[in-house]
Amino acid sequence: MGAELSKEEIRHLIREAMAARENAYAPYSHYKVGAAILAQNGDVTRGCNVENASYSVTICGERNALFAAVARGERSFRAIALTAAPEGKDPWAEGVPYPSPCGVCRQALSEFTDPKTFAVILARSEEDYRVKTLEELLPDCFSL
Ligand code: THU
Repeated sequence: MGAELSKEEIRHLIREAMAARENAYAPYSHYKVGAAILAQNGDVTRGCNVENASYSVTICGERNALFAAVARGERSFRAIALTAAPEGKDPWAEGVPYPSPCGVCRQALSEFTDPKTFAVILARSEEDYRVKTLEELLPDCFSL
């Protein structure tokens, strides 16, 4: 899956997601998420989770990256990388599972992607990752 992405593109996106994770604001869950989304034109936009004392106000890292890119004028995307781990742990630490986007973020991504080809890179490190299409993660998604 994600065959159109080169290994270097994947590694670059993972590095960007790791850097984004440094800015995660997660004083309540202590779970830090970083994401980086690749637009069709090659632009990469970072996002991290940003929590709030009113818990439901929290935005996930994936939607933060997606919406920031849309706000910059991007409308079509090829891939997103995400990385996550509890605060104080590295995503590549033993026992930390591969991250996976929540259902709301999957639906949000479907608005601006072709689910059959859009690649979701679930990364523990630059060398340790899985690539799935959005369709695999969200079959028969809702659209109007
Ligand atoms: N979170 C994400 O950023 N992405 C997901 O796909 C799932 C959850 C965040 C939200 C919250 O800040 C923390 O992880 C724990 O749920």
